[in-house]
Amino acid sequence: MANITYIEHDGRRHVINLAPGKTLMEGARDNNVAGIVADCGGACACSTCHVYIDESWVEKLPPVDETERDMLEFADEPDARLSRLSCQIKITEAMDGLIVKMPQSQTAA
Ligand code: FES
Repeated sequence: MANITYIEHDGRRHVINLAPGKTLMEGARDNNVAGIVADCGGACACSTCHVYIDESWVEKLPPVDETERDMLEFADEPDARLSRLSCQIKITEAMDGLIVKMPQSQTAA
C-alpha cells in the first residue's frame, strides 16, 4: 500500500492509502477527493486530471510519454517540470509518501 497526499488548490489535504495498480486519478476519484475531474475517465484525452507533483518526487516517477506530453499542452497553467496527468501514473509501493497538488481550474464549484 502507498499513502498518497492530495492537496486541493485551497490547501485541503487528503491522505489516502492506496493499493498498487490503481492510477493516481482513480485513487482520488474512488475516495471522493475533489480537484481531479477526469472527464475522459483515464483515456489521456482531456487533461482534467492534471496535478502538480511535489518537487521532491518529480525524478522518482516514471517519465512522461509522448501521449501524456501532448495532452499536457491542453492543461490549464501547466508547469513544464511539475505537471503530470494523474490518470497516467500507476501507483506502486515505492510511491508511499507521494504528494500531489491540484490546479485552481479543477477546484470544485
Ligand atoms: S482523465 Fe482525462 S486525461 Fe486523465
